[in-house]
Amino acid sequence: MIIWLIGLSGAGKTTIGREVWQQWCEQDPATVFLDGDILRDVWGDRLGHDVEGRARNAHRISHLCRVLDEQGINAVAAVLSIFPEWQAWNRETFSSYYEVFLDLPMEVLKQRDPKGIYAAHDSGEMPLVVGCDLPFPTPPAPDLVLGEDAMKSSPGDLARRILGDSGVLHDQEGV
Ligand SMILES: Nc1ncnc2c1ncn2[C@@H]1O[C@H](COP(=O)(O)OP(=O)(O)OP(=O)(O)O)[C@@H](O)[C@H]1O
Ligand SMILES: [Mg+2]
Repeated sequence: MIIWLIGLSGAGKTTIGREVWQQWCEQDPATVFLDGDILRDVWGDRLGHDVEGRARNAHRISHLCRVLDEQGINAVAAVLSIFPEWQAWNRETFSSYYEVFLDLPMEVLKQRDPKGIYAAHDSGEMPLVVGCDLPFPTPPAPDLVLGEDAMKSSPGDLARRILGDSGVLHDQEGV
């Protein structure tokens, strides 16, 4: 099974994804965490952040998940995801696919700005920022949307909710 976390920079993909992975591992150790940024390092070919570089990254991550899924390995993928066609491919291809959209207002994302990219964009130093000069298509068919209210919960509680709602963990309390 693949759990896929989508959201703009600062939405919490890495923070919540890591929690999901850790909790899932307690039940099934054959579970890996695939963070979009770490995979860019793994590929090692300096993919850019323009639409073409992002499209290649999306292709590779989805195909890697397919290989893992076919071998019974679960994955939590934390990926910005600006290509609804890859989200559709994921759903058609994986044995089981659960998609979470972390939907926070830009105001909150800019306050968090974990990598400083919004500040750099606003001061004219960084182009190609999704949600600013690159459009972010709203995921058309997520299984779960976690908005600003949900984000008042801790990452650990949000991870329990994701694992509970996706059916991975049963008998979990909601948040
Ligand atoms: N409830 C919460 N869930 C997740 N993150 C939270 C929450 N509350 C505050 N945060 C903070 O928000 C920030 C989210 O950053 P994170 O790196 O996880 O985002 P990201 O979606 O992976 O961004 P990027 O696309 O830049 O990698 C972290 O600093 C985290 O501590
Ligand atoms: Mg991240």
